[in-house]
Amino acid sequence: MLAGKRVLLIIGGGIAAFKSLDLIRKLREQGAQVTPVLTKAAEEFVTPLSASALSAQKVYRDLFDLTDEAEMGHIELSRAADLVVVAPATADLMAKMAGGLANDLASTLLLATDKKVLIAPAMNVRMWEHPATQRNLATLKADGILFTGPDEGDMACGEHGPGRMSEPLAIVDAVVAALADGPLKGRKLLVTSGPTHEPIDPVRYIANRSSGAQGTALARALSALGAQVTFVTGPADVAPPEGVQVVAVQTADEMLDAVKAALPVDAAVFAAAVADWKVASASDNKIKKTKGGLPQLEFAENPDILATVSQMKQGRPGLVVGFAAETQDVIRNATEKRKRKGCDWIIANDVSPATGIMGGDENAVTMISGTGAESWPRMSKSQVAARIAAQIADALA
Ligand code: C5P
Repeated sequence: MLAGKRVLLIIGGGIAAFKSLDLIRKLREQGAQVTPVLTKAAEEFVTPLSASALSAQKVYRDLFDLTDEAEMGHIELSRAADLVVVAPATADLMAKMAGGLANDLASTLLLATDKKVLIAPAMNVRMWEHPATQRNLATLKADGILFTGPDEGDMACGEHGPGRMSEPLAIVDAVVAALADGPLKGRKLLVTSGPTHEPIDPVRYIANRSSGAQGTALARALSALGAQVTFVTGPADVAPPEGVQVVAVQTADEMLDAVKAALPVDAAVFAAAVADWKVASASDNKIKKTKGGLPQLEFAENPDILATVSQMKQGRPGLVVGFAAETQDVIRNATEKRKRKGCDWIIANDVSPATGIMGGDENAVTMISGTGAESWPRMSKSQVAARIAAQIADALA
């Protein structure tokens, strides 16, 4: 997804720097060329030799290295890249960026670059929450700097809270999104994903086995083609991709509201496994176990989000794509479903337990449109996503 892209990776001096070595590997796996720059403090955590070995590039370290200046000055270095990534971005680096300081190679490159800059902050939770850092964050956002993270969790210093650097895979997603410049550039897309949770009472709910993997892969693939993606997701097992606008919901009703709020869009893909029924009147209090008595749950139908959007008289997306998870007569049922709901395409798949598709990494789908059905060979969910995304791009072109 990053073939031929050049990333200038500035590694700041924080404990998360060890993850930046893995980041180099993962960026290269996607085809990117990575040129590392180490701050003085970063060298306390990772060695220039490791960064150089993993990137297979020269590592830049010092502003006043005359050989480097003769070969490639700092201005040139900061502009030869397609994207500048700062990971980890320490509180100090963020402060320098916000203040426009240029007193070492990293800060000078950041001031001299004319390319997009993506930063992955990492620091102690108190440093992150300090008003100075939050002021700098606001300044950097206003300057158009892109962010990924920080994540919340346990920190090396023993504290807990926001401040952990994003995981390398999430940073790769953010890099892909930042560099996305494909056929869907300027297009607005909507993707629903994951299961919904329909409450029975405050502690119990009805759910289904959808992991959200296919919807997440789709959002990622559409974003990689340059689309601006709103990702409306129920409580899924997999983390949403970076670089998309995430709207987290629980119930089908909330999902419908979020979908309506995201319109208008050029195309909408409904990959969510929305519960067909909800409990008609969920209890406000936990239902008590009573001797001999079983609770009677009355159900009500949930809104059909796909059908609602497909049949909109005004503001209907130019292309509406639904999914059909079936366990028998897949193609016939899905073909009928396309007509009944009024969507343009249905991506049908067999989710019988024997296929291992629900919750698995692979999918075998049949794409049904107005012109017929086309079965694709079994492939990974990300390959299915890339293929659907490419077809959407063709259809919108
Ligand atoms: O009717 P069925 O659930 O099989 O239809 C599946 C398709 O409809 C999927 O695209 C799913 O996201 C969508 N759907 C929806 N709202 C519902 C039920 C299904 O958007 N309440």
